[in-house]
Amino acid sequence: MNPLTATHPTCGLFISFEGIDGAGKSTHIAGLAAAFRAEGRAVTLTREPGGTPLAEKLRALVLGDAMDPLTESLLVFAARRDHLVNVIEPALARGDVVLCDRFTDATFAYQGGGRGFDLETLGTLERWVQHTPAMADSAVRQPDLTVWFDLPAETAAARLAHARAPDRFETQPVAFFLRVRAGYAARAAAEPQRFARINADQSREQVWQAIAEVFVARAWLSRIHPPGGKAA
Ligand code: TMP
Repeated sequence: MNPLTATHPTCGLFISFEGIDGAGKSTHIAGLAAAFRAEGRAVTLTREPGGTPLAEKLRALVLGDAMDPLTESLLVFAARRDHLVNVIEPALARGDVVLCDRFTDATFAYQGGGRGFDLETLGTLERWVQHTPAMADSAVRQPDLTVWFDLPAETAAARLAHARAPDRFETQPVAFFLRVRAGYAARAAAEPQRFARINADQSREQVWQAIAEVFVARAWLSRIHPPGGKAA
């Protein structure tokens, strides 16, 4: 068993969504929220960096202001701590399904892979930030499942060319996103049981079908719902 996997019993379900910018996560996260709600589950829909008033302020700094990679890493982990303590842990304790648009794998991919920041230091921060006193000794909160929208960096860049005003990450060259993608691939290889890799280089309907199959296979959803949260 991976030592970073929380041994604290998870009352709810914690699912994170990852991928390089332009991978198309948002509509599918909304679709999953609708599907879980249609099956009677309470859903907490949230994102990183962000999810609390303080963490949203930190998000604006991280996405808008130039800074060195350690500062960037500390800010995303500070935002994560506030989010974990005030939103994620209480939601899981209530039994909610927590759908989180990005979590720590993004830090390993963007700060570790993209910026080339030291992975050991990120691992130390991960163990500090994702442990709370309610957990067993060295347990570290991790998602029960991470849905990784995998897409070639060149395809994502072409999609972003038509996007709204880009942030500090979205303006990075393709080479940066090649490293980010490799960062995600390394995390997925280290914890294959936690990751579901979805080929995001296909139609929206095909991507939804692939995601829905993952949730039905785990018996977390009873059936494949229509995409985009539409009524059956
Ligand atoms: P979003 O556009 O998907 O909301 O993500 C915000 C940006 O922040 C995205 O480009 C990835 C980046 N990011 C990091 O660099 N490190 C992190 O730890 C997280 C959560 C996001």
